[in-house]
Amino acid sequence: MIKTEVKYLVSKISEEDNKEMSKVYDLHKYWARKPWYPISSCIQKYSKEGDSVLDMFLGSGVTALEAVSMKRNFVGFDLNPISIFISESTILNHFNEKLFFNELELIKQKLLPLVKELYTVSDICSICGNNLIIQHTNIGPSFKGKETAYLFCSDCGKKTKLIRKVTSEELAKSTKKYKITKWIPNNKFPEKFYKDRFSYKGVKKVTDMYTPRNLYFLSELLDIIKSSNFQYINLFLLAFSNTVLHASKLKGENVRPLNVNNYWIPNDYFEENPWLRFLDRIELVLDSKRALKKKIGDTEIGNYKLYNKSCFKTGLKKNSVDYIITDPPYGEAVQYSELSFIWNSWLNYQYKIEEEVVINPVQSKGIPEFLDLLEKSVAEANRVLKDGKRYTLCFHNKEFKIWKGVLDIFKKYNFVLENTEVVDTNGHSYNKNWAKFSPKTDLYLTFIKGKYESTHRTEISAQEILMNIVTKNKKSNPATIYDLISVNLINELYFNEYQMDISHLSIKSIGQFMGMVPNGN
Ligand SMILES: C[S@@+](CC[C@H](N)C(=O)[O-])C[C@H]1O[C@@H](n2cnc3c(N)ncnc32)[C@H](O)[C@@H]1O
Ligand SMILES: [Zn+2]
Repeated sequence: MIKTEVKYLVSKISEEDNKEMSKVYDLHKYWARKPWYPISSCIQKYSKEGDSVLDMFLGSGVTALEAVSMKRNFVGFDLNPISIFISESTILNHFNEKLFFNELELIKQKLLPLVKELYTVSDICSICGNNLIIQHTNIGPSFKGKETAYLFCSDCGKKTKLIRKVTSEELAKSTKKYKITKWIPNNKFPEKFYKDRFSYKGVKKVTDMYTPRNLYFLSELLDIIKSSNFQYINLFLLAFSNTVLHASKLKGENVRPLNVNNYWIPNDYFEENPWLRFLDRIELVLDSKRALKKKIGDTEIGNYKLYNKSCFKTGLKKNSVDYIITDPPYGEAVQYSELSFIWNSWLNYQYKIEEEVVINPVQSKGIPEFLDLLEKSVAEANRVLKDGKRYTLCFHNKEFKIWKGVLDIFKKYNFVLENTEVVDTNGHSYNKNWAKFSPKTDLYLTFIKGKYESTHRTEISAQEILMNIVTKNKKSNPATIYDLISVNLINELYFNEYQMDISHLSIKSIGQFMGMVPNGN
């Protein structure tokens, strides 16, 4: 039976509401973060107060905060140290703003002389008469001879702006050798780095990502934070690590460093003022804590434990978990360990990637290896989840052979597919890495731990399903058609005893196929 309608998990929320509520989570960049609202609605629907909720691939902690704020007890795992650090910082409530500002003030007092020495220029603000400060300089090789400084007044709040050519003394200031006396990450990028778009430019070490001036400044800033006894030291460190990509050569005139899923040094890179960016990141921390106060007030939240380790052996008791909700890596698109390398290096975190669930040729992980690793997590999920309880998997992939592999694993461990729900992500960036034909949705599959049984045997082909859906929905937009196809194929792959061939079916071939079917207009 072909499903003719997709089921939406939550009704689309307004851009504005989402923006306001997302602030809680925006205190540090993480790659491919899930929106909070479908997570919240799943937890609401599939668990109750006091239940234990588990996320095996935690990421930036969205499930953690949503669960504890609904008084569930939460356990989360992630291999990536920065993931745990971001998640812990996100959950932190009872925030004392006054104390935070006092501590920030101490950092400022210690650092402002250096800011002045390194980034203040002789140009004067026409309004308040103070010296202007460099916001950024475009300095990469493609600007040679035409380096430009973007200046502004940080004192009078009138944001006087000035753009002018960089002087040769100023240029020397950013490139001269500084004597660095404080700790900096001295590690090299791994020799095998799949999405390497920097080593051909001579970048071998993390520190090679910076101009000498910015590196020197960052070392001093980090030292001041680390040598403090601040109550909010971790929030300052978080703002610091959220600064280090912006203050690197990854940022260019035509490239937002965080919108491409790799470390790419463009020829038109900037040297951005790390201090101003740090202050801006502090604002994100403040916004997050204020939004959190609005979200949960001073009410009690559930207990939580977050572990920086692989989820294959959680150490949790057999049959002890009430609900699992998780979003494992989808395959190849986002290389979490690679993309976190600079953050983890600055925070001096060690990262073991052997068990990273990913498709990555230089780690010798293809589709079979990816599925084997994923299976280990599903086996563990089966062990720890109580019988009859649910597991919600957030997943997407443009290759249906990967979908089939994933569904076969869930069958094998007796997870019975109950619901396939679609979430419209408002066309946000969550799926941006899907080149060209990009679905605007995420899929949430909810399984019950029980006994798998197929429900029918029909010798239907993927082509037939496609044809049926496309011809019946001529007027719908490609995204809706794509959702319908996904939901139906998932259903057939899961319940139909007949094993249809989907080995060549991908988002691309569906796109081509839809092009072949006249749209009726
Ligand atoms: C898709 S992300 C989760 C993103 C998350 N939903 C969010 O909103 O931020 C997948 C996560 O799985 C983690 N991971 C990969 N292999 C793992 C393993 N074996 N055990 C635990 N975590 C793992 C990655 O470090 C990454 O943070
Ligand atoms: Zn001014």
